[in-house]
Amino acid sequence: MSLVFAINGQRFELDLSSVDPSTTLLEFLRYETPFKSVKLSCGEGGCGACVVLLSKYDPVLQTVEDFTVSSCLTLLCSINHCSITTSEGLGNSRDGFHTIHDRFSGFHASQCGFCTPGMSVSLYSALLDFSEFTVLEAEKAVSGNLCRCTGYRPIVDACKSFAADVDIEDLGFNSFCKKGDSCKNNSLPRCDSEKRVCSFPEFLKDEINKSVDSGMHRWCSPGSVEELQRLLRTCKANSDGLSIKLIAGNTSTGYYKDERERNYNKYVDITRIPEMKVIRENENGVEIGAVVTISKVIAALKEIRVEKMFGKLAAHMEKIAARFIRNFGSIGGNLVMAQRKQFPSDMATILLAAGASVNIMSLSRGLEKVTLEQFLQGPPLEAYDLVVTIEIPFWHRQSSELLFETYRAAPRPNGSALAYLNAAFLARVKDRMVVNCRLAFGAYGTKHAIRCKEVEEFLSGKVITDNVLSEAITLLGKFVVPEEGTSNLAYRSSLAPGFLFKFFHSLILAEKPSSNGFHLDQPKPLPMLSSSQHIPINDEFFPVGEPVAKSGASLQASGEAVYVDDIPAPTNCLYGAFIYSTKPYAKVKGICFKENSVPDGVLAVISYKDVPKGGQNIGMKFSFGPEPLFAEDFTLHVGQCIALVVADTQRHADTAANLAIVEYETEDLEPPILSVEDAVKNSSLFEIYPFLYPQQVGDTSKGMSEADHRILSSEIRLGSQYFFYMETQTALAVPDEDNSIVVYSSCQTPQYVHSVVATCLGIPENKVRIITRRVGGGFGGKAVKAMPVATACAVAANKLQRPVRTYVNRKTDMIMTGGRHPMKITYSVGFKSTGKITALELEILIDAGATVGLSMLIPSNIIGALKKYNWGALSFDFKLCKTNLLSKAIMRAPGDVQGTYIAEAIIENVASSLSLEADTIRKINLHTYESLALFYNRGAGEPHEYTLSSMWDKLGVSSKFEERVSLVREFNESNIWRKRGISRVPIIYPVSMFATPGRVSVLSDGTVVVEVGGIELGQGLWTKVKQMVGYALGMLQCGGTEKLVDKIRVVQSDTLSMVQGNFTGGSTTSEGSCAAVRLCCETLVKRLKPLMEKSGGPISWNNLISQAYAQSVNLSASDLYTPEETPTQYLNYGVAVSEVEIDLVTGQTTVLQTDILYDSGKSLNPAVDLGQIEGAFVQGLGFFMLEEYITDSEGLVLTDSTWTYKIPTVDTIPRQFNVEILNSGRHEKRILSSKASGEPPLLLAASVHCATREAVKEARKQLRMWKGVNDSGLMFQLPVPATMPVVKELCGLDTVESYLEWKSGVNSRL
Ligand SMILES: Cc1cc2nc3c(=O)[nH]c(=O)nc-3n(C[C@H](O)[C@H](O)[C@H](O)COP(=O)(O)OP(=O)(O)OC[C@H]3O[C@@H](n4cnc5c(N)ncnc54)[C@H](O)[C@@H]3O)c2cc1C
Ligand code: FES
Ligand code: FES
Repeated sequence: MSLVFAINGQRFELDLSSVDPSTTLLEFLRYETPFKSVKLSCGEGGCGACVVLLSKYDPVLQTVEDFTVSSCLTLLCSINHCSITTSEGLGNSRDGFHTIHDRFSGFHASQCGFCTPGMSVSLYSALLDFSEFTVLEAEKAVSGNLCRCTGYRPIVDACKSFAADVDIEDLGFNSFCKKGDSCKNNSLPRCDSEKRVCSFPEFLKDEINKSVDSGMHRWCSPGSVEELQRLLRTCKANSDGLSIKLIAGNTSTGYYKDERERNYNKYVDITRIPEMKVIRENENGVEIGAVVTISKVIAALKEIRVEKMFGKLAAHMEKIAARFIRNFGSIGGNLVMAQRKQFPSDMATILLAAGASVNIMSLSRGLEKVTLEQFLQGPPLEAYDLVVTIEIPFWHRQSSELLFETYRAAPRPNGSALAYLNAAFLARVKDRMVVNCRLAFGAYGTKHAIRCKEVEEFLSGKVITDNVLSEAITLLGKFVVPEEGTSNLAYRSSLAPGFLFKFFHSLILAEKPSSNGFHLDQPKPLPMLSSSQHIPINDEFFPVGEPVAKSGASLQASGEAVYVDDIPAPTNCLYGAFIYSTKPYAKVKGICFKENSVPDGVLAVISYKDVPKGGQNIGMKFSFGPEPLFAEDFTLHVGQCIALVVADTQRHADTAANLAIVEYETEDLEPPILSVEDAVKNSSLFEIYPFLYPQQVGDTSKGMSEADHRILSSEIRLGSQYFFYMETQTALAVPDEDNSIVVYSSCQTPQYVHSVVATCLGIPENKVRIITRRVGGGFGGKAVKAMPVATACAVAANKLQRPVRTYVNRKTDMIMTGGRHPMKITYSVGFKSTGKITALELEILIDAGATVGLSMLIPSNIIGALKKYNWGALSFDFKLCKTNLLSKAIMRAPGDVQGTYIAEAIIENVASSLSLEADTIRKINLHTYESLALFYNRGAGEPHEYTLSSMWDKLGVSSKFEERVSLVREFNESNIWRKRGISRVPIIYPVSMFATPGRVSVLSDGTVVVEVGGIELGQGLWTKVKQMVGYALGMLQCGGTEKLVDKIRVVQSDTLSMVQGNFTGGSTTSEGSCAAVRLCCETLVKRLKPLMEKSGGPISWNNLISQAYAQSVNLSASDLYTPEETPTQYLNYGVAVSEVEIDLVTGQTTVLQTDILYDSGKSLNPAVDLGQIEGAFVQGLGFFMLEEYITDSEGLVLTDSTWTYKIPTVDTIPRQFNVEILNSGRHEKRILSSKASGEPPLLLAASVHCATREAVKEARKQLRMWKGVNDSGLMFQLPVPATMPVVKELCGLDTVESYLEWKSGVNSRL
């Protein structure tokens, strides 16, 4: 029996008996085929990087059905007779890119590119789904696909560009048409019908009718319930340990990951059984087969228009996971997960309210119909029990009015996030009286969804009044109680009354429900996304300044761009996985495996003992000292690398690492230091080198004495943030001749990786070679933390004398890599009654973790950003705490983002204590040039360079700030359940230039090859470098140089070819690399000029180069750019206005609008800079609003997956996102007058947090009025991140109860 399928039109046939049935499609694609566009990022269905198009052919109807699936969860055996199309199957560099790839490139929608193939396939599938693809659909096309770089706006615009109803003028900045030009649809690259992708090849159609008999194999696909039963009976009869698993979509393994490591004897595919695929409508309702996918259930329910409730069910189901999960995950699979494993299901809750029942087939009892409620309450389904169908009854035929509504509160409004609580209510009402009702709640930390029968009974027969509702809510409180240990317990409980109130409130407000019988207070859909970009184009240094598309963007979209893990495995390649410490401080006694047997495929466990003689056990080396690679006798923190287990496959290595047991001993050891306070108490501190300690400003005692008011010893705490680059840490080490080694490393610091590998192996540096082509997102996480990954592979490769690679899985990456520095800040601030601040004193305890890493840079970064206001005088005391916690890394805007937040928190506190607007306090304390020079010394630059105060006013006008402040006020006065806030925030961000090398070589055909020290991380470095080379060689002014950019190729970084590469970080590497290649070009120009002059007349570039070759002119030049001595630092400025709306029932914050004004100097490439601005802002938004980084008391990261760590998605970015780039003119000392854009705009996201605080303030005012409390309630702090539970808690977990109580008091007084 064979498994036959097609990938990108190519036929594959595998002998079923040779296939491990637990192999995923992704594993097959990436390890067994050349199709590498499918990326692995999470491996759990939560990111979309692995999305492929799956096509099935129906030989009866002769139709092809195409839909997306996540290949990391789809089992290879499930795709028998299916066809798979990956992004390179849509189009590629050889046969021509697909229009989607071109548009992703032209809309500047790909940065690191790791998400782009998945995005492309998702969009392609969405285009196939709709005969008329609309803007609405375009916005949803990639919902569920994560991107950490772009901020989504350009991706959405690329999608919208295909919509039939799009107004082309509304599309964001792109390469196809310039704003203001008469831009026609036809200027966009169109789908060429000849290049239409054939998703299902003819040859496969012929194979479909061949019989399928798989009974003899571990994977089997019975064709009927009887056949299945026979199979199950046989299995049960022979069940001497025989384990069996029914498989529908297999998406449950995204959540229950240990399932993947279980080795079942039989995998029974139930998706071919006709009885389980039905969708049957009869007079009582609809019966749906258990293997019907959620997408098909949605489509079917939408079709049955007569039952309006079904539309609501479908709408709710559209928020389950992402489309690529719903397309393969079944309704039955979901309910079984809920029943058997207490999965926090939406399906169970909404179907419970809808009165669904379930038909179950068991070997002993045959077919049985039970209500969903009985099903959920029953004992866990046995392995041999089968859910055959689900029945949902019609309700519309009943005489009374019917109300039905579903609710869910989740971090992402459009799905791809489990709910904190979900609910669905059905009520039959007559003249505002509830005849009867069904109230279902789930996912709040309960075993399964429940019906609140006591409340149902209480409400039945009652006319809804405030008092009745109030009593019902009190009663409800006794039942919707999460189990102990559930996160955000009080918050989840508080949602239930809110939803019940929302549902029944209309019965109090309206005499009658609306004519269609449905609730008036519909959940508000998110406003559509829109945006504007104002980009100055500066042609003074053409082609520098042009918004050219990112170099290689189409290649990234097609998935052909090669990342480290895409490099084909060398012969004999082995794979590594880390064993990390789970104890903060303990003696390591030994490592063994569960059940004391060596797991499959394991060849070695590499530890510090394997560091070769003459080498050192170091895994990281930077200016501030080395760090160990492997723990030796003692672990220093949870997540510390203890060993690398090496096996024949990555899966075996990962499984073995999970099975490893480290034996620890903690007896007689001092307790670990697990907080900054403990570190201070124990004097466990790292020294901060004096030259890195920031300078105090003025005399704070004097400033304090001049103040009219003082706030003393106020405290702020800030947590961490994880990088969440889409490509996790990875390296491939290949031993080479003469005891040398080549390491392919996904890192931002090849030069340092080089040195660490050489030191660790004890070999001279000329025997090490580090190659880095591109990195799938770094954000600082691949500066320091990539070093141990590369070094561990090198040690293993050296020991085993075989290539060793590792692709760290997401969970291990999250546990071992760390993130931003958490800190505790205590401040005292003095200020005048006008709001003018006179002095600020800070004490800041920074958790550096167990080793110092780059933490010494944090204090000056904090202060650099905090000094954006004129504090009068500023003093501080930093303590860099050495704890037994994970060493922190430098994440994009390290310290700077905390500094800016601290400044804003202080401003808000001052404003609250004076009862003034925070905007007033900000304005009054903005720097003049004189105060700027006092705070930043020479970094302040020339007076004309200080653009911030004029930008503050300019954005005030362009964003209509004052007008909107009044509108927000009006909105808040007239809305009870939603409050808005608006805030304008300035930023100052100092950056420094570093030495950077470059080499430019001209080849005999006139093409140019460029090497630079900087690494392409998605930030557009290569693109800017190409433009600079084009500009600098263009100085020759010979024929053809204006098109030279097309002839330039920037190649990978190779540490033996380009030495002194330094590191990529600090926002200025693109500038530095541009400066370096400019120097090289100047040399080349000097060498070529005499030839030109000799030629006597116009000469073309190619001719010139031919002559140069003939005359042996050296056409390769290298140079090292070193920044001029003073100043190496300059300041970046930006202002943002954000407006948000919070929902008082759920605590959900919607960013309604953000306007950004950012000074890019004379931008080297405004399209690239725009991408950096938007992307950094959205990453900041994640830090301030969404990304909860939670650890246990010993420091083990608990939010270690896409299920628990929520980076922004397309539905959480500002609904209206406007960016203006300011060209602040010429500055001789900067690179062609440009400024940095990589990190500073991240700080602007503080504006969202500040606006949220404004909105919360309004909610608190209202709550206090209801409660009759006299204090203003305005002296509060909004923690970071301001997640839904945080916002709700500050607005009042009991808002609804308080409102009803207040209202009944008002009514009784009337
Ligand atoms: C990233 C992600 C996000 C998600 N978010 C949500 C969400 O927000 N809300 C929500 O409700 N759900 C969510 N889900 C769950 C999703 O709906 C389920 O994974 C899916 O419906 C399971 O269907 P499946 O066909 O893949 O089941 P499978 O994985 O094939 O099976 C699940 C389990 O049920 C058993 N089984 C399957 N079918 C039957 C049957 N007919 N009879 C008996 N046993 C059976 C299997 O043996 C297995 O144990 C999410 C899933 C993922 C991966
Ligand atoms: S890798 Fe498959 S969804 Fe993330
Ligand atoms: S471009 Fe999307 S993750 Fe980098």
